[in-house]
Amino acid sequence: MNELSDNTVMILGGDGYLGWTLGLAMANRTSRHVVLVDNLVKRRWEKEAGAKVLVPLKRPKRRVAEYEKRFGKYNLAFEKIELLDSKAVEEVVAKYRPDVVINAAQQPSAPFSMSSAQNAAATFSNNVAGHLNVLWAIAHLSKATKYIKVGSGGCYMATDTDYIPYGKSDFTFEHRGKQHKVLQSFLPMQATDFYHQSKITDFLIDDLCAKMWGLKVITVQQATIFGATIPENHPEECGALAARFNYDAVFGTVFNRFICQMVIGHPLTVYGDGTQKTGLISLADTAANFLKFADLDVEPGEHVVVHNYVHRLSISEIAQRLADINPSTKINYLTNPRQEPAGGLDPEVEVHEAVKATHSDMEARLQAEMANMLEFTSRYKDDIDPSIIMPEVKWTVGEQKS
Ligand SMILES: NC(=O)c1ccc[n+]([C@@H]2O[C@H](COP(=O)([O-])OP(=O)(O)OC[C@H]3O[C@@H](n4cnc5c(N)ncnc54)[C@H](O)[C@@H]3O)[C@@H](O)[C@H]2O)c1
Repeated sequence: MNELSDNTVMILGGDGYLGWTLGLAMANRTSRHVVLVDNLVKRRWEKEAGAKVLVPLKRPKRRVAEYEKRFGKYNLAFEKIELLDSKAVEEVVAKYRPDVVINAAQQPSAPFSMSSAQNAAATFSNNVAGHLNVLWAIAHLSKATKYIKVGSGGCYMATDTDYIPYGKSDFTFEHRGKQHKVLQSFLPMQATDFYHQSKITDFLIDDLCAKMWGLKVITVQQATIFGATIPENHPEECGALAARFNYDAVFGTVFNRFICQMVIGHPLTVYGDGTQKTGLISLADTAANFLKFADLDVEPGEHVVVHNYVHRLSISEIAQRLADINPSTKINYLTNPRQEPAGGLDPEVEVHEAVKATHSDMEARLQAEMANMLEFTSRYKDDIDPSIIMPEVKWTVGEQKS
């Protein structure tokens, strides 16, 4: 049987920063039925890492009830499911037979993956084995489902190139004086940590499963997200609909950390000389683009790759943009705990048609989102704990004396 529930989107990682935001936007802005799936493991990882979320995070069912009350719509549901349990994954896919599955249920932090052998392994099991269970369930039960996997733009971090295409290309190279070819291949990806290595692995699994089983797959090579809200949960009275907002050194992304340091008058802590560049996109633009990805036409056996980014800034440029808003803001340069390549070639990144709309008025978008973030985080200013923003996890591993 392969009957799809025509209008159902299942979002894995629905308790998460991105998953919850996508669910809220998708449910409110479309007529789709949205099913959020999560096992709440991130709440445990946060405790173990000593992280705190900025905004008190309501349980998913409470947030669903709040959504119904505020928007008068009843198209959002939550299922507590462990993706490492293949039987549970099959059951939930069989129950809803979604036409789209978005997988944002992963361990998303490079420092967490570098903090211990146990956490490196947890990163691989969640990000690779959980992903495999979903692909098996779709292949067995619901082949017409479109599977959208949230990847990472950081997979190209150590690939020194001047151009990042999203599709496959023909490559030529010289070896021992002879010219050689590689036909129709993705650009080689190179990680600098175990988290991004897991994202490279699941990217290759996406490609394999599309080809091998004729699945419809989209990998979204997602840039670093900044921002806390979208229009649905920005107003002050919508606090109960807030998404997880991590600002600590383990789970907080760079812009979100800097904003929190800035609102409490602490220096912004740049790692290394700050010349390392990153792709960036606001949470609001990310959500808007995912709504489009859910509508993209994908043929069985096709693996579409999209780079979801808008801005490209170096870490010190991000800090400087914030210091320009409040000139009393100081910037501190710390010894880089990571191993990040200097990046000789600053690559141009190919933009898919589906994300082009968010590439207009880039500067205005950046300014508007910084203002939004400052206003939002200032509401919780007294709860910001500066001690959790300083990096503790280092990429180097010292030999232990027995
Ligand atoms: N936040 C960013 O800047 C960013 C940038 C690039 C890519 N991404 C990717 O986006 C996705 C979502 O990231 P996020 O920032 O929302 O992270 P998050 O930690 O806030 O959300 C992930 C959610 O997945 C859930 N989860 C993890 N393993 C699970 C499992 N085995 N079963 C069920 N649920 C599970 C967690 O409980 C959590 O709620 C990840 O794939 C991440 O790699 C995020």
